[in-house]
Formats: sequence, structure tokens, C-alpha cells
Amino acid sequence: MRVEGPKLTAELSDLGIDIRCGASMAELTSLGIGGVTDLLRITKHESIPELISVLERHQTRYKFLGGGSNLLVGDGELPWLILQLGKPDPEIVIEGHLAHVDAAADLGRTVTFCAKHDLGGMEGLIGVPGTVGGALRMNAGAYGMQIGSYVREVKLYRAAERRIEILRGAQISFEYRHTSFAPDDMMLAVTLELPSKPFKEILQGIRICNEKRRSSQPLGQKSAGCIFKNPPGASAGRMIDELGLKGLSVGDAKVSDRHANFFVNAGQASAKDMLTLIADVRGRVENVFGVKLEHEVVVWDA
Ligand code: EPU
Repeated sequence: MRVEGPKLTAELSDLGIDIRCGASMAELTSLGIGGVTDLLRITKHESIPELISVLERHQTRYKFLGGGSNLLVGDGELPWLILQLGKPDPEIVIEGHLAHVDAAADLGRTVTFCAKHDLGGMEGLIGVPGTVGGALRMNAGAYGMQIGSYVREVKLYRAAERRIEILRGAQISFEYRHTSFAPDDMMLAVTLELPSKPFKEILQGIRICNEKRRSSQPLGQKSAGCIFKNPPGASAGRMIDELGLKGLSVGDAKVSDRHANFFVNAGQASAKDMLTLIADVRGRVENVFGVKLEHEVVVWDA
């Protein structure tokens, strides 16, 4: 979808929105797949309610993009604009045990920044690509921890209320790769409350997690992390592996040889290739194990 007409362009520019025409979602996602649309970069959180009204007045559909690291986007000309937060300076402010972090901040950078201030707890998240906002929305976790455990407060645009609100951590439910945020709520900033730990100790934890990840996941390849959630008490990766599906491919979409729940784009995979591969693997797992795997990756199919 494109920003059509001088009136909409002028209204967006009045709101300080930076328009990038013809953005390729393949370049904006870690999977390297996806068609083309216009991208609107938001410079001030406070402009969001008015921005949404403007887009709705012009009957323009939109989607809100985080870091694009857990996302599979459809091919071709896409039927919605993309909204993304610009990065403020500074992105992180430390105040005692609290880290006030903008949703656009890189997750890994946030973990190391907090570590340098002797604030730990998030070591497991090192190496998880994406933004803090994306991690928050999905309740990202690894190696026995999840980001939701450290959330003191979240600033978000609540679509149902059409306004920016602050929620306390206790008002939000954080479950395995799931939160109580509505699908079209936009994460804007978070205050994390983190335990004190000496920098050296945090660094040691970070090294261990990095090593575990390097030895079990295809880090150098284009992927969206795990494709399926783990069903209760089981591992999707192990089930797919047991079926001998590592290396299975549709076009350039391929089940990783290293970790069977990572599907990689080995070249010029299309969304159609990847969706076909996902459906095929899901069907085979269901046939053999009787388990319907749920997507962990978010799919924006056109
Ligand atoms: N396994 C296999 N073959 C494989 C992959 C895994 O046999 O191809 C076995 C492993 O040997 C292990 C078990 O399955 O015994 C679990 O594997 P792993 O430790 O790699 O963890 P996972 O359950 O596959 C989860 C998260 C990852 C997270 C790791 C580390 C999900 C869907 N995945 O993977 O998160 O990094 O634990 O904590 O919850 C993601 O969210 O995108 C993601 C990658």
C-alpha cells in the first residue's frame, strides 16, 4: 500500500512522520522475506493517537513493526502501511534498580547496557534478536527466564482506548510466548526492575548462554527463530528432528540442519515457499504425534 495523495502526505508530515516509500520487508526482517510497502517512522510517541485517526480517516490499513526478527511477511505489493518507532537518544536510562527502556531499543544492547550498570537477570536473552518492544509483546524467554518477570511498568498505545496509557506489571499477564496485550496495542517503552549483580558475574552468564545458542542454533543464517511454540511438556524441535525432517526444503525455504524448529531462508525463499514448508511440517507432526503445533512466528500474509 502507498501513501496516496498530497492531503495524507501533508497530514503525516505535520505529525513529524518520516515516510520511506517502497520499503522492502525482506530488508526489514531477519528472515529476509516479504514484499513492498511504504514505511512510516514515528518520531514522537505522543503523535500516535492522531496518526491512527489520520490513517483511519483515509481508510488506510497499517501494521506496527518491531525489530522484524519473529516475523514472516507475505510476498508482492502489501495491502497495509508499516509503522515503526524511530530510535530516541538515549534509548535506556538507569535509575537505581530500574532501567527505563524505549521499545525501539535493541534487546541485546539493553542486556549489555544493564549489565554494565551491575543489573542482571536477563542474561538468557542475549542473542535473541529484535527490539525490547517485540520481546515484551511476545514475552521473549530463553534458558529458564522470560522478560515479563522483570516488567515494572509499560507505556503503550492501547488501540481499544485510542490513547497512550501506562500499565503496571501486575496488570499484565505474561505466559509462555504470550501476553495479555491486544494484537493491535503498540509497545512504546518499559521500565524493568532488575536484580543487582556484579558485572563480571553477569558477563559469565552471558558467555554461557551465547555458547549454548551458538552450539544449537543456526545463528549465521536468515531465520525468524523458532517457527513453532513448544507444546506443553514437549519440544517441537525434537519432534521435527525425530521425523528426519532436517534439510527438508520448498524452494529456498529449508528446515535448518542445526535446529529443526528453525526454518531458514537459504537464498531467495518466498513467503509462499516458507508457508508451504511450515504447513507440510505441521501436518507431518500431527500425523505422527497427534500434536497440532502452534506458530511461534508471527505471520503477516497479504
Ligand atoms: N532438539 C533436538 N533436535 C533439534 C532441536 C532440539 O533433538 O533439532 C532437542 C534438544 O537436544 C533438547 C530439546 O530438543 O533436548 C530442546 O531443544 P533446545 O534446548 O534447543 O530448546 P528448544 O525448546 O528447541 C527453546 C526456545 C528457544 C530458546 C531455547 C533456549 C521455544 C519455541 N524455543 O528452544 O527460543 O532459545 O529454548 O532456551 O520456546 C525462539 O523463541 O524463537 C527461540 C529460539
